[in-house]
Amino acid sequence: MTMAAAKIAVVGGDGIGPEVTEQAIRVTDAALKRDGVVYAWNRLPWSSTFYKKTGQILPDDGWDTLRQHDAILFGAIGSPDVPDTVTVHGLLLPMRRKFDLYVNLRPAYLFDGVQSPLRDKPPGSIDMLVYRENTEGEYAPTGGRLYVGTPHETAVQTSVFTRRGCERILRTAFEAARKRPRKKLTSITKSNAQVHTLGLWDDVYREVSKLFPDVQAHSLLVDAAAMDFVRKPEVFDVVVASNLFGDILTDLSATITGSVGLGASANINPERAFPSMFEPLHGSAPDIAGKGIANPLAAILSAKLMLDHLGQTNAAAALQTAVARVLKEAEVRTPDLGGKATTTDMGDAVVAALG
Ligand code: NAD
Ligand code: IPM
Ligand code: MN
Repeated sequence: MTMAAAKIAVVGGDGIGPEVTEQAIRVTDAALKRDGVVYAWNRLPWSSTFYKKTGQILPDDGWDTLRQHDAILFGAIGSPDVPDTVTVHGLLLPMRRKFDLYVNLRPAYLFDGVQSPLRDKPPGSIDMLVYRENTEGEYAPTGGRLYVGTPHETAVQTSVFTRRGCERILRTAFEAARKRPRKKLTSITKSNAQVHTLGLWDDVYREVSKLFPDVQAHSLLVDAAAMDFVRKPEVFDVVVASNLFGDILTDLSATITGSVGLGASANINPERAFPSMFEPLHGSAPDIAGKGIANPLAAILSAKLMLDHLGQTNAAAALQTAVARVLKEAEVRTPDLGGKATTTDMGDAVVAALG
C-alpha cells in the first residue's frame, strides 16, 4: 500500500460546496498520480445539514480533528434556513482566527478563452494577486446590540487593527511583489474617512515600504480602487487590503476575470503552526445548488494553491496548465462562462487535459 504524502481534511459544507469540492479532489488525485503521489482525503460532514441533525456545526473535538491534518480543503458554508451566526461565525471565520490564517491570497487572472465583462481585455492582461488580511480588521467579533427592540436600539461593532496584524500582511504582500516581474504593489486604504484604523494601516505601510525599495508601491483609496479594477485592471500587480476591503474587492477581481466561479483562495498560516485552508472565494450559491451546474474551477484552482503550499509544485503546475487548456479550448464550460456543461463535465475535461 502506498503511504499518503498528505492528509487533507475536506469540509464540503453547504450548497454547491460539496459539488465543487469533489471535482477538486478528483483532479488533484489525477495531477498527483503523474508523480506517483497519493493524498488521503478525510471527508467531514460539517454543514448546515449536520447542524440541523446534531445542534452543532462541528463536533466538540472538531477543531482538534482539523489540526491533525496537513491542510483543509473547504467548499462553502451558509444556508438560507440557518443563521450566519451558526455557519459563518461557527465554522469559517473562527477557523481563520483559531488557525491564525492571516494571509488570504486571492489571485485573479484573465485566462485565454475567457470573456471578461470588460471590453477589449486580452488574455493575461488582468493578472493580480490580492493579499487580504484574514484575522482582524473589520471582521473582529467585537461589539454588541443594546436596548434590542426599543426605539433607541444600538449596535456597536469595533474594527480591530493592530500593528502586528498590519505589518505581517503588508510584509507578506511586499515579499510577493518583489518576486513578480512587475514588482508593483497597491495598498488599499480609506484613511481619509477611517482615520484611526486605516491611519495605522497607512503608517505601517509606509514603514514596510521603506524595507522594499525595489518594489514600486503606492497607496489607493478603496473607492478609487473599485473604479480602477473596472477602468484599468491591468495596472494592478500585487494588491494588499484589510479584511473587509479585500473581501469586497475580490468578488470584483474574480468577476472581471470572467466569473466568481474562477476565484480561488488560500488561507495561509505562513509559520505552518496550523493547517492552512483552501477554498473558492465564492459562497454556497443556494440559487444553483443541487443543479450540478456550478463551476468547479475556483475550487480546482484553490486545490492548486494547496499543492503549491504542500510542496507538490509539479502537480500544481500541471493542474494550472490543464485548467488553462480547458478554458482556451472553450469546448466545455459551465453556464457562468456562457456554456452548458455540468460541474462533472468540467472536472472530466480537466482530468482529460492532465493526460
Ligand atoms: P455566492 O458566492 O454563493 O453566490 C453569488 C452568485 O454567484 C450567485 O448567483 C451564484 O449562483 C453565483 N456563483 C457562485 N459560485 C458559483 C460557481 N462556482 N459557479 C457558478 N456560479 C456561481 O454568494 P451569496 O449568494 O451572497 O451567498 C450565499 C451563501 O454563501 C451565504 O450564506 C453566504 O454567507 C455564504 N458565503 C460563504 C462563503 C464561504 O464559505 N467561503 C463565501 C461567500 C459566501
Ligand atoms: C469570503 C466570504 C466570507 C467573508 C463570508 C462568508 C463571511 O464572503 O470568504 O469571501 O466575508 O470572508
Ligand atoms: Mn467574500
